[in-house]
Amino acid sequence: MPAPVPDAAIPVLTIDGPSGSGKGTIARAVADKLGWHMLDSGAIYRAVGYATAVRGLDPSDAEAVARCAADTRIEFRDPGDGGDTRVVVDGVDATDAIRTETAGAAASAVAALPEVRRALVDKQLAFRQPPGLVADGRDMGTVIFPDAAFKVFLTASPAERAERRYKQLKAKGLAVTLASLLHEIELRDARDASRTVAPLRPADDAVVIDTTGRPIATVVAAVLAVVRKD
Ligand code: C5P
Repeated sequence: MPAPVPDAAIPVLTIDGPSGSGKGTIARAVADKLGWHMLDSGAIYRAVGYATAVRGLDPSDAEAVARCAADTRIEFRDPGDGGDTRVVVDGVDATDAIRTETAGAAASAVAALPEVRRALVDKQLAFRQPPGLVADGRDMGTVIFPDAAFKVFLTASPAERAERRYKQLKAKGLAVTLASLLHEIELRDARDASRTVAPLRPADDAVVIDTTGRPIATVVAAVLAVVRKD
């Protein structure tokens, strides 16, 4: 068996930013171009919010939710047909259930609990596998992979972020209004940015890219330029 590659030798690109900043789409495209693995850490928090509800736990009971975070099995499965990665929670396909705004709010609530964040650290570190990792989230560059060689923070105006989420959710056939989305996004961002543990903020060494009004291909090129700069 080949010797395991030490973590420090496996390159990581972190892509953090608020909801609707384009992180997911950009991270997927960049990971495909580089041939690297991908960590969608938001899906992990969404899966925990979902598992908490399935188990009927009180979301403010930090210990119970942290236990749930530690023992919930979260698997990412490639459907093999070019479609979206499936997120399987304790054996049940929860891909669609975790994508609603309600699930986003539930994720943001459990994500504010320090015990839950601690319980999920090792699960996230395990994604660092050769030849490299693109990690998408809120604290990838600040907390989970502070030693990452490449760090990006994506932003966009709140109006544009709401518009993007609106199009995504509409495409999935969900009933939403732009005004309510804008309100929910602002609430969720305020909670993510103001929590005491791992608040949403760019790492000191992150390259900040404003994606407002910029096509996906331009942003992908800008992020790839960060990785290929040396
Ligand atoms: O990125 P996504 O919108 O799927 O994330 C859902 C929620 O999970 C965020 O609003 C945030 O509260 C939480 N999250 C987090 N840390 C991460 C990724 C997501 O707190 N690294």
